[in-house]
Amino acid sequence: MAGAPQPAAAADDTASSGPPGYDAAAREPDGRPIADIDRMLLYVARVPDTQLGAYLRSRGWEVATAKSPHEATRLAKAEPTCAGIVDLTGFAARDLAGLEAVLRLQQVGWIALTDAKRLTDPEVRRLIRQYCFDYVHLPVAPATLDYLVGHAFGMVTLCDLDEAPAAASQDEDEMVGTCEAMQQLFRTIRKVANTDATVFISGESGTGKELTALAIHERSPRRKAPFVPINCGAIPHHLLQSELFGYERGAFTGANQRKIGRVEAANGGTLFLDEIGDLPMESQASLLRFLQEGKIERLGGHEQIPVDVRIISATHVDLEAAMRDGRFRADLFHRLCVLRVDEPPLRARGKDIEILAHHVLHKFKQDSARRIRGFTPDAIEAMYNYNWPGNVRELINRVRRAIVMAESKLISAEDLDLDQFTEQQTVTLAQAREAAEKRAIEAALLRHRHRLTEAATDLGISRVTLYRLMGTHGLRDEKTIFGGEAENQPDLPPEPEA
Ligand SMILES: Nc1ncnc2c1ncn2[C@@H]1O[C@H](COP(=O)(O)OP(=O)(O)OP(=O)(O)O)[C@@H](O)[C@H]1O
Ligand SMILES: [Mg+2]
Repeated sequence: MAGAPQPAAAADDTASSGPPGYDAAAREPDGRPIADIDRMLLYVARVPDTQLGAYLRSRGWEVATAKSPHEATRLAKAEPTCAGIVDLTGFAARDLAGLEAVLRLQQVGWIALTDAKRLTDPEVRRLIRQYCFDYVHLPVAPATLDYLVGHAFGMVTLCDLDEAPAAASQDEDEMVGTCEAMQQLFRTIRKVANTDATVFISGESGTGKELTALAIHERSPRRKAPFVPINCGAIPHHLLQSELFGYERGAFTGANQRKIGRVEAANGGTLFLDEIGDLPMESQASLLRFLQEGKIERLGGHEQIPVDVRIISATHVDLEAAMRDGRFRADLFHRLCVLRVDEPPLRARGKDIEILAHHVLHKFKQDSARRIRGFTPDAIEAMYNYNWPGNVRELINRVRRAIVMAESKLISAEDLDLDQFTEQQTVTLAQAREAAEKRAIEAALLRHRHRLTEAATDLGISRVTLYRLMGTHGLRDEKTIFGGEAENQPDLPPEPEA
């Protein structure tokens, strides 16, 4: 297999990603001068720069200007693909949620305009990271911007989803990812593949930990030797020891012949210890011994057998907590975690959600008798609103089921069983969470008449955290007692029924 990660479109590699032969003063691939071709450019700014607009028009861009996120969405939806300029300097913090909905639009390749002050806002930085191909500080030379939007346009054209999407490939094990978090992951994979150090992969369920382990192996000098996975959580504890290290004939009743364990089977290659957090203490001790000595001993055997394997381990549980609780040996963890890889959850991958959905559709569309062409706008919206607790695996399952269930050429939110996530929301998930958090804190404070210790206990957080959150939500006022004087607090009106 060819499991090496193949980024569908390298967001950090715009310089090589425009149409072949493209440069700012040159021609389109078919030889026509750039100025002869109208390419759509959406320019979103509170106060658009008319001179910039005029310059870009002279460079062959059909510029549509929008002064609000709402207007931008309307204009963009009418276009199959376009480049986009979003001037973040004029928009206030309260506009960012609306802008995020615009930036998410799959068919637009965005370049952000910003300044040093705006970049101090973490939300602005996140939007740029997640959704934009590049950003520039104002003031910017119009020619530079022309060049950048040219590349952004080239990138979205590559991702044209109704054509064979760039993200989709016949390669079974391709890893799809264009967002910054995935680009970072691909860079890490390339780096760690070249060493023999142990790698620890952490990430929620279904984020692609095994795929990453395989990609590391396939890119490493060990690629011709076996990649041996073992799921430590799926094997009964009493069998794990013999499964890992093997046994000699007669080692126990029923051991009629010698069995080679997984560690030995991986000799020369890579051993992937999945769900390492489920490894019982006994096996933790044996594994640690093996890591220290590079030798194994089969059960019932007396011979020390040298084995050369590279170990990659993964877990979706919090190993730090397991160590604190004494369920996982810290010395073993430090041996296993020389290099660490973190898999981003799907909900943090921006446009990749949609790209992955198309990738899966492309891969499995033959499962349907109909010729399914894509997703309805409400399906796309629901995919962005949904939290994806099962990550990529869940997305694959939902899309595959939808391919079978769909009754039209487009998969709807209902086919994905996500119809409850479709209402035209005016709030983002982050806002919804924030509102829910605020409501819970307010209720707890009311219940405990602003006695922080009790309210914090109810909420399962520390008093310091509660006090901080109250500041964030504007809930600190003269009623707030922080410092143990709560008992002196005058009685407040009884809480209303929640
Ligand atoms: N970036 C990606 N591009 C394409 N497919 C992916 C990607 N990440 C994961 N997948 C697919 O999603 C599924 C789940 O991936 P994988 O088994 O590697 O996840 P995991 O993190 O090991 O999950 P678990 O914690 O449940 O073991 C697999 O079918 C895998 O091929
Ligand atoms: Mg796994």
